[in-house]
Amino acid sequence: MNYQDVFVQVIEKLDGFKDLGKPASYIPELQNVNSNNFGVHLTTIEDQNFCFGNSDDKFSIQSISKVLSLVMAYKIENEDLWKRVGVEPSGTPFNSLVQLEHDKGIPRNPFINAGALVISDILVGHLKDPKQELLQFVRRLSGNPKLEFCSRIAESEKSMGYRNAALINLMKDFGNIHNDIDEVLDFYFNLCSIEMTCKELSKTFLFLASNGKDPITKEKYLSTSKSKRINAVMQLCGFYDEAGEFSFKVGLPGKSGVGGGIVAIHPNKYSIAVWSPKLNAKGNSSKGMKFLELFTSETESSIF
Ligand code: DON
Repeated sequence: MNYQDVFVQVIEKLDGFKDLGKPASYIPELQNVNSNNFGVHLTTIEDQNFCFGNSDDKFSIQSISKVLSLVMAYKIENEDLWKRVGVEPSGTPFNSLVQLEHDKGIPRNPFINAGALVISDILVGHLKDPKQELLQFVRRLSGNPKLEFCSRIAESEKSMGYRNAALINLMKDFGNIHNDIDEVLDFYFNLCSIEMTCKELSKTFLFLASNGKDPITKEKYLSTSKSKRINAVMQLCGFYDEAGEFSFKVGLPGKSGVGGGIVAIHPNKYSIAVWSPKLNAKGNSSKGMKFLELFTSETESSIF
Protein backbone atom coordinates (compact mmCIF):
# COMPACT_ATOMS: atom_id res chain seq x y z
CA MET A 1 0.00 0.00 0.00
CA ASN A 2 1.22 3.52 -0.74
CA TYR A 3 0.87 5.05 2.71
CA GLN A 4 2.14 8.40 1.41
CA ASP A 5 -1.07 8.86 -0.59
CA VAL A 6 -3.09 7.92 2.50
CA PHE A 7 -1.20 10.55 4.54
CA VAL A 8 -2.14 13.21 1.96
CA GLN A 9 -5.83 12.20 2.12
CA VAL A 10 -5.84 12.14 5.93
CA ILE A 11 -4.10 15.52 6.20
CA GLU A 12 -6.73 16.99 3.85
CA LYS A 13 -9.48 15.62 6.07
CA LEU A 14 -7.73 17.03 9.15
CA ASP A 15 -7.86 20.50 7.64
CA GLY A 16 -11.08 21.38 9.43
CA PHE A 17 -10.04 19.77 12.72
CA LYS A 18 -10.27 22.28 15.54
CA ASP A 19 -7.59 21.30 18.04
CA LEU A 20 -8.85 22.28 21.49
CA GLY A 21 -5.94 20.58 23.24
CA LYS A 22 -3.22 22.23 25.31
CA PRO A 23 0.43 21.23 25.78
CA ALA A 24 1.32 19.68 29.15
CA SER A 25 2.08 22.38 31.70
CA TYR A 26 2.90 20.37 34.85
CA ILE A 27 6.38 19.69 33.47
CA PRO A 28 7.51 23.30 32.92
CA GLU A 29 10.08 22.50 30.18
CA LEU A 30 7.44 20.85 27.97
CA GLN A 31 5.88 24.27 27.43
CA ASN A 32 8.96 25.48 25.57
CA VAL A 33 7.96 23.56 22.44
CA ASN A 34 6.05 24.93 19.45
CA SER A 35 2.65 23.38 20.05
CA ASN A 36 1.76 23.58 16.35
CA ASN A 37 4.36 21.00 15.42
CA PHE A 38 2.95 17.94 13.72
CA GLY A 39 4.89 14.96 12.45
CA VAL A 40 4.25 11.37 11.46
CA HIS A 41 6.43 8.47 10.37
CA LEU A 42 5.43 4.94 9.38
CA THR A 43 7.90 2.07 9.00
CA THR A 44 6.70 -1.19 7.46
CA ILE A 45 8.16 -4.54 8.43
CA GLU A 46 9.73 -4.58 4.94
CA ASP A 47 11.52 -1.34 5.91
CA GLN A 48 9.53 0.96 3.67
CA ASN A 49 9.33 4.44 5.17
CA PHE A 50 6.67 7.12 4.85
CA CYS A 51 6.70 10.49 6.58
CA PHE A 52 4.98 13.84 6.86
CA GLY A 53 5.64 17.18 8.59
CA ASN A 54 8.02 17.49 11.55
CA SER A 55 8.87 13.80 11.52
CA ASP A 56 12.60 14.45 11.97
CA ASP A 57 12.28 16.79 14.97
CA LYS A 58 13.17 15.38 18.39
CA PHE A 59 10.55 15.47 21.12
CA SER A 60 10.16 14.14 24.65
CA ILE A 61 8.61 10.69 24.38
CA GLN A 62 7.63 10.65 28.10
CA SER A 63 5.33 7.71 28.98
CA ILE A 64 6.01 5.96 25.67
CA SER A 65 9.33 4.95 27.31
CA LYS A 66 7.37 2.91 29.84
CA VAL A 67 6.91 0.23 27.19
CA LEU A 68 10.68 -0.03 26.74
CA SER A 69 11.42 -0.31 30.46
CA LEU A 70 8.64 -2.92 30.71
CA VAL A 71 10.25 -4.96 27.93
CA MET A 72 13.59 -4.89 29.78
CA ALA A 73 12.01 -5.89 33.11
CA TYR A 74 9.92 -8.65 31.47
CA LYS A 75 13.07 -10.17 29.98
CA ILE A 76 14.68 -10.23 33.43
CA GLU A 77 11.79 -11.34 35.65
CA ASN A 78 9.65 -13.33 33.19
CA GLU A 79 6.16 -14.10 34.55
CA ASP A 80 7.21 -13.28 38.14
CA LEU A 81 6.92 -9.66 37.06
CA TRP A 82 3.14 -9.79 37.32
CA LYS A 83 3.29 -10.44 41.07
CA ARG A 84 4.18 -6.78 41.58
CA VAL A 85 2.09 -5.11 38.88
CA GLY A 86 -1.20 -6.05 37.21
CA VAL A 87 -2.39 -6.13 33.60
CA GLU A 88 -5.84 -4.59 34.04
CA PRO A 89 -6.93 -1.23 32.66
CA SER A 90 -7.16 1.22 35.55
CA GLY A 91 -9.87 3.48 34.16
CA THR A 92 -8.16 6.30 36.05
CA PRO A 93 -5.78 9.11 35.01
CA PHE A 94 -2.12 8.17 34.56
CA ASN A 95 -1.02 9.81 37.81
CA SER A 96 -3.94 8.79 40.02
CA LEU A 97 -3.44 7.68 43.62
CA VAL A 98 -6.97 6.46 44.33
CA GLN A 99 -6.70 2.71 43.65
CA LEU A 100 -3.28 2.22 45.14
CA GLU A 101 -4.20 2.09 48.81
CA HIS A 102 -7.13 -0.25 48.24
CA ASP A 103 -4.94 -2.50 46.03
CA LYS A 104 -2.23 -2.66 48.74
CA GLY A 105 0.44 -0.92 46.69
CA ILE A 106 0.11 -3.17 43.59
CA PRO A 107 -0.53 -0.90 40.58
CA ARG A 108 -3.23 -2.01 38.12
CA ASN A 109 -0.84 -2.00 35.14
CA PRO A 110 2.74 -1.04 34.16
CA PHE A 111 1.75 2.09 32.19
CA ILE A 112 0.13 4.21 34.86
CA ASN A 113 2.83 6.12 36.72
CA ALA A 114 2.62 3.85 39.79
CA GLY A 115 3.20 0.77 37.62
CA ALA A 116 6.08 2.34 35.73
CA LEU A 117 7.69 3.24 39.07
CA VAL A 118 7.54 -0.43 40.15
CA ILE A 119 9.12 -1.43 36.81
CA SER A 120 11.81 1.22 37.39
CA ASP A 121 12.43 -0.24 40.86
CA ILE A 122 12.88 -3.70 39.33
CA LEU A 123 15.44 -2.40 36.84
CA VAL A 124 17.30 -0.39 39.48
CA GLY A 125 17.43 -3.56 41.59
CA HIS A 126 18.75 -5.80 38.81
CA LEU A 127 21.06 -3.67 36.69
CA LYS A 128 24.61 -2.55 37.56
CA ASP A 129 24.29 0.76 35.73
CA PRO A 130 20.53 1.09 35.15
CA LYS A 131 20.45 4.38 33.23
CA GLN A 132 23.32 3.44 30.95
CA GLU A 133 21.94 -0.04 30.25
CA LEU A 134 18.51 1.40 29.47
CA LEU A 135 20.06 3.90 27.09
CA GLN A 136 22.05 1.16 25.34
CA PHE A 137 18.90 -0.92 24.88
CA VAL A 138 16.92 2.00 23.44
CA ARG A 139 19.82 3.00 21.19
CA ARG A 140 19.92 -0.50 19.72
CA LEU A 141 16.17 -0.53 19.12
CA SER A 142 16.08 2.93 17.57
CA GLY A 143 19.19 2.46 15.46
CA ASN A 144 20.52 5.78 16.81
CA PRO A 145 23.72 5.24 18.86
CA LYS A 146 23.66 8.89 19.97
CA LEU A 147 20.26 8.82 21.65
CA GLU A 148 20.31 10.61 25.04
CA PHE A 149 18.26 11.50 28.08
CA CYS A 150 17.28 15.16 28.21
CA SER A 151 18.58 16.38 31.58
CA ARG A 152 16.67 19.66 31.20
CA ILE A 153 13.35 17.78 31.02
CA ALA A 154 14.32 15.29 33.74
CA GLU A 155 15.30 18.09 36.12
CA SER A 156 12.19 20.08 35.26
CA GLU A 157 9.98 17.13 36.08
CA LYS A 158 11.92 16.34 39.26
CA SER A 159 11.40 19.92 40.47
CA MET A 160 7.61 19.43 40.30
CA GLY A 161 7.41 15.66 40.86
CA TYR A 162 5.24 15.69 43.97
CA ARG A 163 2.65 13.22 42.69
CA ASN A 164 5.21 10.63 41.63
CA ALA A 165 6.87 11.10 45.02
CA ALA A 166 3.50 10.44 46.70
CA LEU A 167 2.91 7.30 44.61
CA ILE A 168 6.33 5.83 45.29
CA ASN A 169 6.19 6.60 49.03
CA LEU A 170 2.83 4.85 49.34
CA MET A 171 4.15 1.80 47.48
CA LYS A 172 7.31 1.77 49.60
CA ASP A 173 5.10 1.64 52.67
CA PHE A 174 3.31 -1.40 51.21
CA GLY A 175 6.66 -3.09 50.50
CA ASN A 176 6.36 -2.91 46.70
CA ILE A 177 9.41 -0.64 46.24
CA HIS A 178 12.66 -2.34 47.23
CA ASN A 179 15.29 0.27 46.44
CA ASP A 180 16.06 3.81 47.50
CA ILE A 181 13.16 6.07 46.50
CA ASP A 182 15.35 8.89 45.18
CA GLU A 183 17.36 6.50 43.02
CA VAL A 184 14.19 5.00 41.52
CA LEU A 185 12.65 8.42 40.89
CA ASP A 186 15.86 9.62 39.25
CA PHE A 187 15.80 6.58 36.94
CA TYR A 188 12.10 7.13 36.18
CA PHE A 189 12.44 10.84 35.35
CA ASN A 190 15.37 10.09 33.06
CA LEU A 191 13.43 7.26 31.41
CA CYS A 192 10.60 9.70 30.64
CA SER A 193 13.00 12.36 29.35
CA ILE A 194 14.28 10.33 26.38
CA GLU A 195 13.98 12.30 23.14
CA MET A 196 13.35 10.83 19.72
CA THR A 197 12.03 11.78 16.30
CA CYS A 198 8.89 10.16 14.87
CA LYS A 199 11.17 8.22 12.55
CA GLU A 200 13.22 6.81 15.43
CA LEU A 201 10.12 6.07 17.47
CA SER A 202 8.43 4.06 14.73
CA LYS A 203 11.68 2.13 14.16
CA THR A 204 12.03 1.50 17.92
CA PHE A 205 8.61 -0.18 18.13
CA LEU A 206 8.85 -2.18 14.92
CA PHE A 207 9.91 -5.36 16.78
CA LEU A 208 6.48 -5.42 18.45
CA ALA A 209 4.86 -5.51 15.01
CA SER A 210 6.95 -8.54 14.19
CA ASN A 211 6.59 -11.02 17.06
CA GLY A 212 9.40 -9.53 19.12
CA LYS A 213 12.02 -9.64 16.33
CA ASP A 214 13.35 -6.54 14.58
CA PRO A 215 12.46 -7.37 10.96
CA ILE A 216 15.31 -5.22 9.66
CA THR A 217 18.28 -6.19 11.87
CA LYS A 218 16.76 -9.66 12.60
CA GLU A 219 17.56 -9.26 16.29
CA LYS A 220 15.09 -11.16 18.50
CA TYR A 221 14.28 -8.97 21.51
CA LEU A 222 11.30 -10.86 22.94
CA SER A 223 9.66 -14.25 22.51
CA THR A 224 6.50 -14.28 20.38
CA SER A 225 4.40 -14.92 23.47
CA LYS A 226 5.91 -12.03 25.44
CA SER A 227 5.58 -9.71 22.45
CA LYS A 228 1.88 -10.61 22.21
CA ARG A 229 1.46 -9.83 25.90
CA ILE A 230 3.17 -6.43 25.68
CA ASN A 231 0.85 -5.57 22.78
CA ALA A 232 -2.15 -6.73 24.81
CA VAL A 233 -1.17 -4.45 27.70
CA MET A 234 -0.72 -1.54 25.26
CA GLN A 235 -4.15 -2.23 23.80
CA LEU A 236 -5.84 -2.26 27.20
CA CYS A 237 -3.81 0.26 29.17
CA GLY A 238 -1.74 2.36 26.75
CA PHE A 239 -4.05 5.40 26.93
CA TYR A 240 -5.14 5.23 30.59
CA ASP A 241 -8.79 6.22 30.97
CA GLU A 242 -9.01 6.72 27.22
CA ALA A 243 -7.85 3.21 26.27
CA GLY A 244 -11.36 2.17 25.30
CA GLU A 245 -11.80 5.23 23.10
CA PHE A 246 -8.45 4.63 21.35
CA SER A 247 -9.34 0.96 20.72
CA PHE A 248 -12.79 1.98 19.51
CA LYS A 249 -11.59 4.69 17.13
CA VAL A 250 -8.14 3.52 16.04
CA GLY A 251 -8.15 -0.22 16.68
CA LEU A 252 -4.41 -0.73 17.22
CA PRO A 253 -2.24 -1.32 20.30
CA GLY A 254 -0.36 1.86 21.13
CA LYS A 255 1.14 4.12 23.74
CA SER A 256 0.97 7.85 24.34
CA GLY A 257 3.15 10.35 26.18
CA VAL A 258 2.52 13.84 27.55
CA GLY A 259 5.11 15.20 25.11
CA GLY A 260 2.35 14.70 22.50
CA GLY A 261 3.71 11.53 20.94
CA ILE A 262 1.73 8.40 20.12
CA VAL A 263 3.14 5.17 18.74
CA ALA A 264 0.86 2.42 17.43
CA ILE A 265 1.62 -0.88 15.78
CA HIS A 266 -0.22 -3.02 13.29
CA PRO A 267 1.06 -6.58 13.85
CA ASN A 268 2.79 -8.00 10.77
CA LYS A 269 2.40 -4.70 8.92
CA TYR A 270 3.89 -1.53 10.40
CA SER A 271 4.71 0.74 13.29
CA ILE A 272 3.53 4.37 13.14
CA ALA A 273 4.57 7.34 15.29
CA VAL A 274 2.67 10.64 15.42
CA TRP A 275 3.62 13.81 17.28
CA SER A 276 1.45 16.82 18.06
CA PRO A 277 2.02 18.46 21.50
CA LYS A 278 -1.53 19.63 22.27
CA LEU A 279 -3.17 17.18 24.66
CA ASN A 280 -6.81 16.42 25.38
CA ALA A 281 -8.19 16.24 28.92
CA LYS A 282 -6.91 12.66 29.35
CA GLY A 283 -3.31 13.68 28.58
CA ASN A 284 -3.19 12.16 25.09
CA SER A 285 -2.37 14.05 21.87
CA SER A 286 -5.70 15.19 20.46
CA LYS A 287 -4.62 15.68 16.84
CA GLY A 288 -2.43 12.58 17.01
CA MET A 289 -5.43 10.48 18.00
CA LYS A 290 -7.60 12.03 15.29
CA PHE A 291 -4.91 11.42 12.69
CA LEU A 292 -4.67 7.74 13.62
CA GLU A 293 -8.44 7.34 13.64
CA LEU A 294 -8.66 8.75 10.11
CA PHE A 295 -5.62 6.73 9.04
CA THR A 296 -6.98 3.33 10.08
CA SER A 297 -10.39 4.28 8.66
CA GLU A 298 -8.88 5.31 5.33
CA THR A 299 -6.74 2.13 5.09
CA GLU A 300 -9.68 0.03 6.38
CA SER A 301 -7.27 -1.92 8.47
CA SER A 302 -6.94 -2.48 12.20
CA ILE A 303 -6.47 -5.51 14.44
CA PHE A 304 -10.24 -5.96 14.72
O1 DON B 1 5.41 10.92 35.30
C1 DON B 1 4.84 11.69 34.54
O2 DON B 1 3.83 12.30 34.87
C2 DON B 1 5.43 11.89 33.15
N1 DON B 1 6.85 11.74 33.18
C3 DON B 1 4.86 10.90 32.16
C4 DON B 1 3.37 10.95 32.03
C5 DON B 1 2.87 10.64 30.67
O3 DON B 1 3.56 10.77 29.68
C6 DON B 1 1.42 10.29 30.56
N2 DON B 1 1.04 10.05 29.19
N3 DON B 1 0.21 10.44 28.46
